[in-house]
Amino acid sequence: MNMLLLLLLINVSQHALAVVVEVYAGERSVLLPCQFYSFIPEEPTVMWTRSDLNPKSVHLRRYEDDLRGQNQRYSGRTSMNPDALNSGNFSLTLRTPTKTDSSNYTCSISDGREELRLTDIQLQVKDQQVEVKVEEGSESVILPCKTKPDLPEDTSVEWTHSDQELTVTQVHSNNSDHLKQLDNLYCGRGKMNKDLLRTGDLSLTLKYPTQRDSGGYICTIYRDKDILRQKVELQVKEQFPSWAKAVLVLLVLLVLFVVSGGLLFYFRHYFMSAYQVEVDPGVESVQLPCKTTHCLPKDAIVEWKDGSMYDRKVHVYQNGSDQSNKQHEDYRGRTEMKRSLLKPGDLSLTLKHPTDEDTNTYTCTVYSKEGNILMKKDVVLIFRDYAEVKPEHSEVEYVELPCKTTLHLLEVAKVEWKERGNRKVHVYENGSDQPEEQHQDYKERTKMNEDLLRTGDLSLTLKYPTEEDYSIYTCTVYSVEGNILLKKQVKLKVRVCQVEVEEGAESVQLPFKTSQNLPGDAEVEWVHYNPKKTIHVYKNGSDQPGEQDQDYRDRTKMNEDLLRTGDLSLTLKTPKESDSGEYKCIVYGKIWRAKTVLLKVKGQTI
Ligand SMILES: *[C@@H]1O[C@H](CO)[C@@H](O)[C@H](O)[C@H]1NC(C)=O
Ligand SMILES: *[C@@H]1O[C@H](CO)[C@@H](O)[C@H](O)[C@H]1NC(C)=O
Repeated sequence: MNMLLLLLLINVSQHALAVVVEVYAGERSVLLPCQFYSFIPEEPTVMWTRSDLNPKSVHLRRYEDDLRGQNQRYSGRTSMNPDALNSGNFSLTLRTPTKTDSSNYTCSISDGREELRLTDIQLQVKDQQVEVKVEEGSESVILPCKTKPDLPEDTSVEWTHSDQELTVTQVHSNNSDHLKQLDNLYCGRGKMNKDLLRTGDLSLTLKYPTQRDSGGYICTIYRDKDILRQKVELQVKEQFPSWAKAVLVLLVLLVLFVVSGGLLFYFRHYFMSAYQVEVDPGVESVQLPCKTTHCLPKDAIVEWKDGSMYDRKVHVYQNGSDQSNKQHEDYRGRTEMKRSLLKPGDLSLTLKHPTDEDTNTYTCTVYSKEGNILMKKDVVLIFRDYAEVKPEHSEVEYVELPCKTTLHLLEVAKVEWKERGNRKVHVYENGSDQPEEQHQDYKERTKMNEDLLRTGDLSLTLKYPTEEDYSIYTCTVYSVEGNILLKKQVKLKVRVCQVEVEEGAESVQLPFKTSQNLPGDAEVEWVHYNPKKTIHVYKNGSDQPGEQDQDYRDRTKMNEDLLRTGDLSLTLKTPKESDSGEYKCIVYGKIWRAKTVLLKVKGQTI
């Protein structure tokens, strides 16, 4: 027996160069490898020691663990395989390594008389990492990992993403052409150098980094018996911080008011090209881009919606097929979606025969089967020659929808302003306005400049705008032959009127002013929604208290002579907190008018 140990001793001492094991402080554990390939002696003792400590015992195994003499520092932090004495695998797991664990460790076996030193391990607990910053939308980013050149043939490298608990890639460099399939999330986005053994450059190139890729990456190199580690902290920054977007939107709006025509669109394009698709009226189709560099699960649900008040569904893809029954009828038969979900996803939507009514912000959202949002992107579709108007508040008396041209317009036969639903808002033909052609909703509410052909200013003044007027308006100019000389779009955004008052106030006014001289037989009704209650009714020339809800009896008042003055405001006396909610005034009859007022009555704080 002594003879055998002696032989082994000679054999092992030739390999006694310390094995280097590197690990990062903060990792869950590190494995100190130690393998014994010979016969296990009777009554064996396996020892892990650290000679610079007293007591020097890190872990001791007889028939079972015997930790009576263990150095306190390692208390509860070490373990060995239960069947170590049968398998010869004496590797030690050391949990929560810290910097002070950096040292030389020795694994040895003894039969009670002699001790055989099996492995020396030089453990290095590191805390210095490389930091890499990149902007989202960049072509690629390199996560550096370099070591000595001319690595042995059997070296292997592993890249792991520490935060996501998954292995990104494992490369056995003996066969570097055959990179193991990268983790699904990375969709083949990772790439390593071909010649990595010779150069020692094991850096990982990650294509199209996104914010989800941020986090700690560890490059582990298995070189001979050494286990070397390098950590890279990757930070992928948002391409465009949201505050900057907000500033840009303001800027663009400002520009909208100041500049017109080509310059305007140059600016918009310049600032917002990533989010905006511009199209000429009359094209066959337009593609709304939505791409992701991540692989999406097979059972992901893709939903394209429009930015209308009702979030109408433009296209739905689920269970591996298009769900045409779920899309809004306006889009039926007009959409087509690319869907290579498993390749880095291209979920772009083709919208056929787009018209100005399709001017909108479209949102492409990808949900997991469980309903979590995996990705969301906005695409703004606009037609060239487009402007946007947002009155500061909803109480403005009028708003101007811009339409200006430097064209020589003397030959013009007709200027037509239309609303998205194709209703005629204002028609100017043969030198004069044509009020009989306009839709009743706009009667007495529109005005165009005098001398418009000479000045080229075809802007429309729309009086008493309410949230009902939130829409897209098109200004079209026709020549005598009927050809379109000019077409411009204006989106009008009107906010819903909001009124705030404190409980205890004598009264509050829900304002609504519209055109004067409403028809004598018009009916005016103020209603409350959710739950629906009638607040005040005016018809046949007088108030109708019999039709109003109990709660509002004797609490409402409207102006005298309201049809003539067009002031349909409602005074609500002794407002209570429970009066808060959505109110709407509607005028019925030959003409139609409506306005919503959101009332908030703040309770008194005692
Ligand atoms: C030895 O055991 C450890 C777990 O304690 C394991 O991770 C390692 O792969 C084993 N080594 C061999 C060569 O089987
Ligand atoms: C590397 O590959 C060659 C040929 O494919 C093979 O003969 C050799 O054993 C491999 N080396 C290692 C260390 O796996």
